Amino acid sequence: MCGITGYIGKRDATPILIEGLKKLEYRGYDSAGIALLDNGKMNVCKKKGRVDVLAEEISKKPFKANLGISHTRWATHGGVTDANAHPHVSSDGKFALVHNGIVENFESIKTFLTKKGYTFKSQTDSEALVNLIAYHYDFRTDESLENRFLEAVRKALIHVEGTYGIAVISKEKPDEIVAARKGSPLLIGIGKNERLVSSDVLGFAGRANNVIYLDDGQIASITIDNCDIISIGNKPIEYKVKEIDWELENADLAGAKHYMQKEIYEQPKAIENAIRGRISDDASTAILHGLNMTAQEMRQVDRIIFCACGTAWHACLVAEQLIEKYARIPVEVEYASEFRYRNTPIEKNTLVFVLSQSGETIDTLEALRESQRKGFKTLAITNAIASTISRESDGGLYQYAGKEVGVASTKAFTSQVVICLLIALHIGRMRDLSYTAGKEIVEAIKKLPNLVEETLQQAKHIEEIAKKYAFNEDFLFLGRLDEFPIALEGALKLKEISYIHAEAYPAGEMKHGPIALICPECPSVIFANAEDVLSKVVSNAQEIKARKGKIIAITSFPEAFEGLADDIIQLPKMHDCVRTIVATVPAQLLAYYIALERGCDVDKPRNLAKAVTVE
Ligand code: F6R
Repeated sequence: MCGITGYIGKRDATPILIEGLKKLEYRGYDSAGIALLDNGKMNVCKKKGRVDVLAEEISKKPFKANLGISHTRWATHGGVTDANAHPHVSSDGKFALVHNGIVENFESIKTFLTKKGYTFKSQTDSEALVNLIAYHYDFRTDESLENRFLEAVRKALIHVEGTYGIAVISKEKPDEIVAARKGSPLLIGIGKNERLVSSDVLGFAGRANNVIYLDDGQIASITIDNCDIISIGNKPIEYKVKEIDWELENADLAGAKHYMQKEIYEQPKAIENAIRGRISDDASTAILHGLNMTAQEMRQVDRIIFCACGTAWHACLVAEQLIEKYARIPVEVEYASEFRYRNTPIEKNTLVFVLSQSGETIDTLEALRESQRKGFKTLAITNAIASTISRESDGGLYQYAGKEVGVASTKAFTSQVVICLLIALHIGRMRDLSYTAGKEIVEAIKKLPNLVEETLQQAKHIEEIAKKYAFNEDFLFLGRLDEFPIALEGALKLKEISYIHAEAYPAGEMKHGPIALICPECPSVIFANAEDVLSKVVSNAQEIKARKGKIIAITSFPEAFEGLADDIIQLPKMHDCVRTIVATVPAQLLAYYIALERGCDVDKPRNLAKAVTVE
């Protein structure tokens, strides 16, 4: 989703800002722009399309500045045009602003400002905000000259309904960037004799080793060597400076063709990182200090609710099955975007988990806040260190999967499922799960990185299969029990990056409707790794075959599909508890190779954004 970078220092701001924007490309965007303050002149350049288009345009201009802001926009209000791209400049030309989020009451602000003589060039909500800042700057002449800019931003923000991460510069104060956040991340990077602003650590492009994370309702005045933060209520804020772990944030392609490919192959490592230090062989359990719960507190939990969006929601569906099976606690899974408005009844001894790779998804963040408002302990599983969700939760577990840049989530999903398996083991061992059963799970988890490695060796075979089916326009994905969620995940991966229509069902549901789709042009991907229901899944495959449907079986029981499936992707034999993790890998590869065959840009799929920070 939209990305912000800002720079104040002694060097030429343009290449630094462009490099920052390039690092944020993975988040998804459709236009880009830059504003630079050069000797009291506000220079702005913005273009629809890629950052390269902007860089090309700006290279033709003689801009030189040590201070500027830039942005990649993912359209919400108003189409993809140069005029709607950020930065937006106030109609008096004094202020430029970049904005992530949505100003929900922008229409009324615009009406108010229009009456006061302000004019608008774009259809965006953000332009209303920059003009509101200009209005407050001119309206309030009582502030000392020193903080008049900061005060104008603060006063404008008091009137904003909605969400924002903003960076603002002003001709009136050419040595300062003002940044603020509410519901949309904003970070301040500290370098030597320079400060940076970004919506994501990557936007610093390695130039800062220390970072300040703004919290909601905070506004920062940033100069070349200082940063003061106040609350929206005008109280000074003490803040912490944190070191950036660039090893975890590393986002180089490292020889891979695409981030998605790189991240699929990083899964054995990501799984190792998720389990490192979290397994006790002696006690046959998982050690999860991050949950911040004693064994007594955990025993009192009667019900668990999981909330997430998209791929993370699929991980929750697997978690439901794992926890109910091994820990025998009822689990419910909610879309975070629904949970926050649905007013789900939650009983006394309920524990709430939110799952989010980015830790910034606004729906998931609001689900967390809603749950906390109701007084429930709310734990988070996130990949992004110090993300908003991880900071606001009452405890939780980091995935340590390393930066995920590919818009289509891969390693984050499997590592989330591993963490959920650890939770199931941990709670299960406090309840009904025996030492021996726990030991089997521990052993299975320890073998996981190798099982995934082995499965990745099927890539060539999967690429061949992909070539056969790449130009079909409809797919069905089928699985039973915990393989239904991975059928959903497989279908989502295919949709996202190859734009093929794909649907997923529990295999037994097929005959209740979706079977009408079966024909030679609609292949079915069948997950069949659950021995207890294998014969049932085979029967479902027979029903497809009888209707001339093509079948791709992902199975550790290839013999059951001989003469039945058109293509078989053979998986190693494994313990039930890890099958979803291993079986997801071929589905990711299948989607990846099909997308490549169709000539799709797998790392920048159309319309998609990485961290979804608007509702
Ligand atoms: C799909 C995908 C999205 C995310 C969803 C939640 O490949 O990446 O569906 O899973 O937007 O994102 P996080 O986990 O960052 O909250």
